[in-house]
Amino acid sequence: MSSLAVIVLAAGLGKRTGVRTPKVLLPLCGRTLLETVLDTTAALAPQRTIVVVHHGREAVATSSSGRAGVECVDQGEPRGTGHAVRVAFAHLTGFTGDVLVVYGDMPLLRADTLAVLREARGAAAAAILTAFPDDPSGLGRILRDAEGGIAAIREERDCDPDQLAIDEINVGVYCFAADRLGPALARLSDDNAQRELYLTDTVGHLLDDGHAVETVVATDPDEALGINSLAQLATARSVMQERILLDHLAAGVVIEDPATTFIDWGVTIGRDTRILPCTVIRRGVRIGSGCEVGPFSHLRPGTVLDDTAEIGNFVEVKQSRIGIGAKAKHLAYLGDSQVGRGANIGAGTITANYDGRSKHRTEIGDGAFVGSGTVLVAPARMAAGSKTGAGAVVTRNTEIGEGEVYVGVPARRLGATGDERQSR
Ligand code: UD1
Ligand code: CA
Repeated sequence: MSSLAVIVLAAGLGKRTGVRTPKVLLPLCGRTLLETVLDTTAALAPQRTIVVVHHGREAVATSSSGRAGVECVDQGEPRGTGHAVRVAFAHLTGFTGDVLVVYGDMPLLRADTLAVLREARGAAAAAILTAFPDDPSGLGRILRDAEGGIAAIREERDCDPDQLAIDEINVGVYCFAADRLGPALARLSDDNAQRELYLTDTVGHLLDDGHAVETVVATDPDEALGINSLAQLATARSVMQERILLDHLAAGVVIEDPATTFIDWGVTIGRDTRILPCTVIRRGVRIGSGCEVGPFSHLRPGTVLDDTAEIGNFVEVKQSRIGIGAKAKHLAYLGDSQVGRGANIGAGTITANYDGRSKHRTEIGDGAFVGSGTVLVAPARMAAGSKTGAGAVVTRNTEIGEGEVYVGVPARRLGATGDERQSR
């Protein structure tokens, strides 16, 4: 297959969202909109990816830095989609092959659809993705000729009433032959209602010059959803959430109530694990098989649950590894900690990991038993088989030795496991 360059348009202000965050940096299931789009296009293994930025450019550029083959280019004052692609294309001198154009605010687009579009271009100069949304208002309409081929894309503001009635729209996703795109971009003018350079005008220019232009209809109109408002962001989130949950269900993860389960993108969960209702699992969390999580659990970034571990209601876990078969079933906070195999974390256990300045670690060994209501002020360590009594406050830098029992406030050594009765 020919080589591929991707141009991502992300220079717009996104005023309609009403928030100060640049639109393409809004979050969607653990990724920004732009990261989501870049992950999608990365699946096609492009040689070059150029993100066109302007408003909020430092923040946007930072968010995509470190991705192999991704470059950010400042559009300067945005003068329309045609101008944006012209600026990006100037960085592609000498490139031959396919140029795929997508928007940074269209996160539901699938890599498969982009591959179909690329294939549809074949020997034509371009292929255009179209859709039939419920509400076409505000979007460019697809004008077709008597044979049903595409004749032009007309922006809504430039449409007459007959053209406004057309329900097929331009999604804004294109695959161009690089050698045809250059001359078509050179011919763009701002002689239109918005005094912008319209990328859509390239279609008319290519056809005028006798080149073929193909179209592909998006079978799932959700894919064409562009995010202009927080309401649309919420809609996209629920579509993306459903896709993520369906993937886990297909992989043998039991999700009792998908409607109240929030799992970010980039979470791995083993087969036969049960996720119970009202649970939130953030990006990067890794869960083994045969585990149980929920109801009402919150697994934050950096959490690793080994096989058959159990996290129950009102338990929050962050930057912690929970060993095989370990249990924290009720009302606990485990942060920056390591919990050994088969350990039992009693109800109300807190790792006090933050002293107001820095975070400290807590280690709980294999088979340890943490009594209800224990506070472990980090750094703290409980060796294998050790125990705390209910309500113990284990002060910072305490090291509870193997098999030792600590009780009280502040917690003091009571004896070893097994001789509690005798020492009482
Ligand atoms: C464009 C299409 C329209 C299509 C619609 C789909 C043109 C002329 N019209 O509409 O046919 O139905 O998308 O959403 O292309 N952007 C830049 N630089 C610019 C202008 C835009 O980077 O100078 C980016 C925006 O950030 C956004 C995307 O391009 O991500 C689309 O811009 P927007 O203004 O929303 O689209 P329209 O031009 O209204
Ligand atoms: Ca516009």
